[in-house]
Amino acid sequence: MNPDVPLQLLGGLTARVFLRDYWQKKPLLIRQALPDFENPISADELAGLALEEEVESRLVLEHGESPWELRSGPFAEDAFTHLPERDWTLLVQAVDQFVPEVADLLQHFRFLPSWRIDDVMISFATPGGGVGPHFDNYDVFLLQGQGSRRWRIGQMCDADSPLLEHADLRILQHFEQTDEWVLEPGDMLYLPPRLAHYGTAEDDCMTYSVGFRAPSAAEVLTHFTDFLGQFLPDEERYSDADAAPSSDPHQIQRDSLDRLKALLAEHMGDERLLMTWFGQFMTEPRYPERIAGTELDQDQLLASLHDGAVLIRNPSARLAWSEVGADLVLFASGQSRLLSASLRDLLKLICAADALHADNLGPWLANDEGLNLLLELIKQGSLECADE
Ligand code: SIN
Ligand code: CO
Repeated sequence: MNPDVPLQLLGGLTARVFLRDYWQKKPLLIRQALPDFENPISADELAGLALEEEVESRLVLEHGESPWELRSGPFAEDAFTHLPERDWTLLVQAVDQFVPEVADLLQHFRFLPSWRIDDVMISFATPGGGVGPHFDNYDVFLLQGQGSRRWRIGQMCDADSPLLEHADLRILQHFEQTDEWVLEPGDMLYLPPRLAHYGTAEDDCMTYSVGFRAPSAAEVLTHFTDFLGQFLPDEERYSDADAAPSSDPHQIQRDSLDRLKALLAEHMGDERLLMTWFGQFMTEPRYPERIAGTELDQDQLLASLHDGAVLIRNPSARLAWSEVGADLVLFASGQSRLLSASLRDLLKLICAADALHADNLGPWLANDEGLNLLLELIKQGSLECADE
């Protein structure tokens, strides 16, 4: 992807300029980011998803049994029949994993690393509906799908920003509005992390939130050190050979701290393990239970592909690849595989292609290592074999 090509999705900005001036920094309103946007899912279908056990959904009523009442799905069939005329919103998480047409929207965001994408959340709101003034800890693109929504943006927030006393919702006590726009279908608003925002529906409206993910510093430290710990033998310990005699046996001296820092630096700086952990962590699926594998052998796979079968990424799987020293590594749904550098084009194809088939796999069908990789991904469930 050429970072210097102007993108309609970014209102004519190039990916390079967007990343330099806006990403993680400041909001950007893009009128007609997706012109002629056709809403890929109806409000009724969205409500239908919210009935499903495996789907995460929430209903927020500004004037419910309590102010800003939160109800959590899955919902019963009649849950939407007794709702007030206005001021409520239904939010459904990770719709991209359940509706392929919604997953297709993510194609437009290829100018950003795919492993940073979290999910596409969709909200349906009646007039006045919204989730209150709040901030999120992640970047989000808010695409208007149907109807119109008024977005107000405000101050930059942090962990100390005062919130309303509410058990479940993080609503800001103070909202210092700096700008306001009404978004129509196809319009999009990019918001950096921690910027206060407040969306209210002008009429029955649907908004698509393309949300990104970034591990917290606490997650990086705790998860990486847990991962590292598996590779360290119990025998490797804090050691103080050549320690200077201590004048007070009760004092922990500065040189002990230096020894600890050296021990930490030695292991924390292991780039191979750091990359392996990071790739595994960033590709961990949100719904691992939706990833079930199938066992095939090479002959069965080849026969299916020659008969027109396609391999498609399980919508719940996440894939990424990287270089680790002279090797390549493929990360698939929280697991990693070290592969020889000769498989580079296959790895790129597996991560990027909508579907793998006899045509685009071409010579890889005669490559043993390549075929075994495909079989492993099918066995793990990240790829699914579908007869066309
Ligand atoms: C919404 O779509 O109503 C909420 C999206 C957000 O503010 O993060
Ligand atoms: Co938000």
